Amino acid sequence: MIEDSSKFELTEELKASIDKILVEHYHDFTQIVGILLDVQSKIEQHYIPKIVACYVAEKLPVKLSVIYDCMTFYDALSDKPRGRYPIEICDSIACKVNNNEFLLKTLKELLGIDFGTVTYDGRFTIEKVSCFGACDRAPAVKINGIVYGPLKTKAQMRGLLEQFV
Ligand code: FES
Repeated sequence: MIEDSSKFELTEELKASIDKILVEHYHDFTQIVGILLDVQSKIEQHYIPKIVACYVAEKLPVKLSVIYDCMTFYDALSDKPRGRYPIEICDSIACKVNNNEFLLKTLKELLGIDFGTVTYDGRFTIEKVSCFGACDRAPAVKINGIVYGPLKTKAQMRGLLEQFV
């Protein structure tokens, strides 16, 4: 079940993880995208709730609007709850010519969701993203940083989804 992001609790444990990430990045503003990706990876639903964005802004320090600009610009960052396994579907040229439309259509059908929605059990979301450098495995997807592909048949896609229970 997807939680209401306004009710997200910033625990002491999460604060400590964020503090550690900031130290690892030397509180360096130029590493903001890496910082936000690392912070996001600590949250089960792979997004950055407002309370977390505010905490990072205060601690880095940086303006809150800069954090939201990054989340708007980078596909890999989100301010909305995603599935525990967000499926990033490449929509760049090598994947397009290898029929990523079939991949997309089939995943939507198997999962019963569209963009911007989450499966009933909170496991999956699907998102179109730009090339992530796995063009030799087109059409490809990325789930929690791991690339899978080429995915050309419904059976391959079903097998992939079954790995994430
Ligand atoms: S075009 Fe799809 S991974 Fe590069």
